[in-house]
Amino acid sequence: MVESDIPDILVIERYSFPNPWKPAAFVGEVHNSPISHPMVLVIRPENIIVGYVIYWQIKEEVQINNIALHPNFRGRGLGTIMMKYVFERVILNGARYIILEVRPSNTTALHLYEKFGFSVLGVRKGYYINPAEDALVMGKTV
Ligand SMILES: CC(C)(COP(=O)(O)OP(=O)(O)OC[C@H]1O[C@@H](n2cnc3c(N)ncnc32)[C@H](O)[C@@H]1OP(=O)(O)O)[C@@H](O)C(=O)NCCC(=O)NCCS
Repeated sequence: MVESDIPDILVIERYSFPNPWKPAAFVGEVHNSPISHPMVLVIRPENIIVGYVIYWQIKEEVQINNIALHPNFRGRGLGTIMMKYVFERVILNGARYIILEVRPSNTTALHLYEKFGFSVLGVRKGYYINPAEDALVMGKTV
């Protein structure tokens, strides 16, 4: 991910989440966070950004902070490909634990994470707004 990708990312972000990240949040991930690994999924040869994933890694610990695909490109295995890529990268860099948060109502994301062996570690009460919902904290040892 580079700064010039952000307008395309924002389109996907706004399709994907009721409380989308603001542009400055993406700029911060690209420029201001040494622990952040923001990446885009690009379809070739058209060079269209169809998705992105952002994770933080501090030595053995990884947190996946954002993952989304354009609605036209969901449900065809690309989320699985992005997760596999993240796993390969973080394991090469010494990861032992991966955590993330998800809405219990997000059945597709839950299915994806369970497929990768994540299990529920806990619940953050009232974590999400609009609509209000708890967050499931999911984790996996790698
Ligand atoms: C979550 C997301 C990244 C998943 O990517 P995707 O490309 O759609 O997922 P995949 O096609 O790789 O499918 C992953 C698994 O979920 C299943 N799945 C796909 N669509 C589904 C649906 N609508 N309902 C239930 N399961 C579904 C697939 O069958 C697959 O499981 P399988 O391999 O056992 O068959 C994507 O749907 C998305 O961008 N959603 C909006 C943003 C979001 O919710 N991000 C996660 C926030 S925690």
